[in-house]
Amino acid sequence: MNAGIIGVGRFIPENIVTNLDLEKQMDTSDEWIRTRTGIEERRIAGDDMDTSGLGYRAAKKALEAANVAPEEIDMILVATVTPDQPFPSVACMLQDKLGAKKAAAMDVSAACAGFMYGMVTAKQFIETGVYKNVLIVGVEKLSKVTDWEDRNTAVLFGDGAGAVVMGPVSEGKGILSFELGSDGSGGKYLYQDTHIRMNGREVFKFAVRQMGESSVNVLEKAGLTKEDVDFLIPHQANIRIMEAARQRLELPVEKMSKTVHKYGNTSAASIPISMVEELEAGKIKDGDLIVMVGFGGGLTWGAIAMRWGK
Ligand code: ACO
Repeated sequence: MNAGIIGVGRFIPENIVTNLDLEKQMDTSDEWIRTRTGIEERRIAGDDMDTSGLGYRAAKKALEAANVAPEEIDMILVATVTPDQPFPSVACMLQDKLGAKKAAAMDVSAACAGFMYGMVTAKQFIETGVYKNVLIVGVEKLSKVTDWEDRNTAVLFGDGAGAVVMGPVSEGKGILSFELGSDGSGGKYLYQDTHIRMNGREVFKFAVRQMGESSVNVLEKAGLTKEDVDFLIPHQANIRIMEAARQRLELPVEKMSKTVHKYGNTSAASIPISMVEELEAGKIKDGDLIVMVGFGGGLTWGAIAMRWGK
């Protein structure tokens, strides 16, 4: 049994904060942010909507797209580092809000690689036949842990949610290979005490190396080559890091998803949000070979090679 994506959804808060807005709040400039990161604006959720509220909206859309009723969900996995509270988990909150009566539910904490960890976990349950429908939500309200006095980090992040329903798909479709990894010794480079703290240069070096290596590794594991790739969906942290991954795969610009300019870094939500946007734009088609790759605090990383379609 192969595990693949059978429905997707996303939710982006309405409130746009541009680089020019940030110029008024801190010692930064639109020019610096654009050239160093590729970010032009980000979305910030209001006080009335926490992580579970963002995730719920994306999850509803994914279930509708998959034509799966809440009672048919076997498991809910929520990738987030910004839960409403330490417990109960966001996954349990969604289980209740959705009315997913028979679902197991837990959060996955792997920072920006969390969605890759969630999808790979779902794959194990589906391929062994234990579960049929698994809902995976990548969601962050990073604005609540952003230090708005720290220009090194405040300009980078945004809020948002993306969700997929995974289930059994036909032979040759779905997840073909994956790689997950961690290096806790690099935890000091990116962490949260009260707020997000980051050594940008160290994270940058790690990310450039890891995104490229993991992308190549999943292709090798699937017995494929760079030429087989139709579309790359990298974690949207910084355009320069994304470009390094694209160049490693020798892909033309139009074959890489780019939403970082609109949404900033939405951590675990960035890959599913980008996936939905590319599908809506008609750039991902049935039978396409997709590589998804992410890295994050932990340090963590993950990549998936997937043949699109049911
Ligand atoms: N506006 C203006 N100047 C700034 C800003 C800003 N917002 N932020 C930093 N600077 C200054 C710095 O203080 C530094 O000044 P100095 O030389 O006087 O000390 C100067 O700009 C250059 O800083 P660098 O660190 O050399 O800039 P760099 O080119 O490395 O870009 C950046 C910084 C964008 C943070 C980059 O290192 C990066 O993208 N790193 C990866 C970050 C990342 O992806 N984090 C998310 C991980 S995902 C997760 O798990 C949440």
